[in-house]
Amino acid sequence: MEVKNNKISKVSRRDFLRTSAAVSVAAMTAGSHSIYAAGNEELKVALIGCGGRGKGALKDYHNAAKMIGPSVKVIAIADVQKDRAEAVAEQYNVPREHVFTTFDGYKKVLATDAEYVLIATSPNFRPVHFEAAVRANKHVFMEKPAAVDPPGVRRIIAAGEIAKRKGLGVVAGTQRRHQKPYLETAAAIQQGAIGRILSARVWWCTGQLWYKPQNPGESDASYMVRNWVSFTEMSGDHIIEQHVHNLDVANWFIGRTPTQALGFGGRARRKTGNQFDFFSIDYDYGDGVTVHSMCRQINGTYRRVSEFFTGTNGTTWGEGNMEQINKKSVTIPEFMDGHPKVIEHFDMINSIRDGRPLNEARNVAEATMTAIMGRIAAYTGQIIRWSDLMTRPESLYYDLTLRPSAEDFEKGPVTAPPDDVVAVPGEEKEQEKKKRKRKK
Ligand SMILES: NC(=O)c1ccc[n+]([C@@H]2O[C@H](COP(=O)([O-])OP(=O)(O)OC[C@H]3O[C@@H](n4cnc5c(N)ncnc54)[C@H](O)[C@@H]3O)[C@@H](O)[C@H]2O)c1
Repeated sequence: MEVKNNKISKVSRRDFLRTSAAVSVAAMTAGSHSIYAAGNEELKVALIGCGGRGKGALKDYHNAAKMIGPSVKVIAIADVQKDRAEAVAEQYNVPREHVFTTFDGYKKVLATDAEYVLIATSPNFRPVHFEAAVRANKHVFMEKPAAVDPPGVRRIIAAGEIAKRKGLGVVAGTQRRHQKPYLETAAAIQQGAIGRILSARVWWCTGQLWYKPQNPGESDASYMVRNWVSFTEMSGDHIIEQHVHNLDVANWFIGRTPTQALGFGGRARRKTGNQFDFFSIDYDYGDGVTVHSMCRQINGTYRRVSEFFTGTNGTTWGEGNMEQINKKSVTIPEFMDGHPKVIEHFDMINSIRDGRPLNEARNVAEATMTAIMGRIAAYTGQIIRWSDLMTRPESLYYDLTLRPSAEDFEKGPVTAPPDDVVAVPGEEKEQEKKKRKRKK
């Protein structure tokens, strides 16, 4: 790319790619990747959480293995919804004694000789399941997000460090990090194609997801598991459950996590659970860099899922679009093309076989914490600092633990929070004020 009179020049994806020098596949994410010839090898995999994404991840894992060579054997599965576990068991010929349907079923899965574990339950169980998987020396693919509260995120980071020391592979379902146009844009940004990033807008504006009412006589545990996208305690709220993808891109492209967040949110149409319907958060990344994040799940409203970045030398948005002010020439490595949900498994398996296991625990944990920071800011109406959640135990939010927790579900019956009772910004401070007045 050339600089011409300092004018903005639109760079089509084709031009952008023409500047590429072909280097190794996915070099930016996993070091060198090699394709192995098919042999008699067999990858032993297990699945925890046999819902839509769990089934999808297992299929994607099979497709990735097919691209590499070895065959796949599904060793064990767990799901607290028996019919779901049994359907997957039948599809993949999993022996009955390796099908587990209780809340401690993950422990039994991890006691088998599976080498890889795919974790795709609702996010509230992730820290406990991930920690146990690392303890059991398994390579892990875990769906995003990583947790629903600050202690959960810190547990993921700590277990991720142990995984690193043990040489285990950890890949997360923040699949943009395995998506060619995003990898190309990240490489271009790293080489200064748009200069220093000054600001960004990241959006996940879409319609409503499903919800499920409680059946007569159904336990609260079953209701919360089935209706998990309605409860903050299960999903973290949709700023975490969905918008984590876009916030991960912001952290990745900017190269650091935000220092603080302030924002708004509210509820407009939901009937069950306690989540908000929309959030609008201003993130401060320090050094004058700000990110505006928006997410919404309301039918009939403007829809767009994308990320826009403005730098001192241009802009970039969506999947690989870029405009430069100075046509700074950059060299883009050749990345693996294909569905990112397959490529993430391809990258994981290859990185392990290359002896350089990918470890994405910190990335997904930090993206999750970024989203949690936004949620707490919107729920409370306060400025929330990164240090409040990561390094300052004296902060009100450092130990914020959502209940029922994963451990509560394992111990016995749980009580669901009341439907349609939601956070009211400012309430915490108002109560503190009243308490102080009463004391005087
Ligand atoms: N990467 C992506 O683009 C993407 C897309 C969709 C979903 N996801 C993520 O995947 C995860 C699962 O989502 P889904 O759409 O498959 O939900 P789902 O409700 O279809 O499936 C979750 C399954 O986990 C089971 N489960 C819950 N708790 C369990 C426990 N403690 N032990 C065993 N089984 C348990 C449930 O019974 C259910 O069958 C979520 O974290 C979601 O955010 C990621």
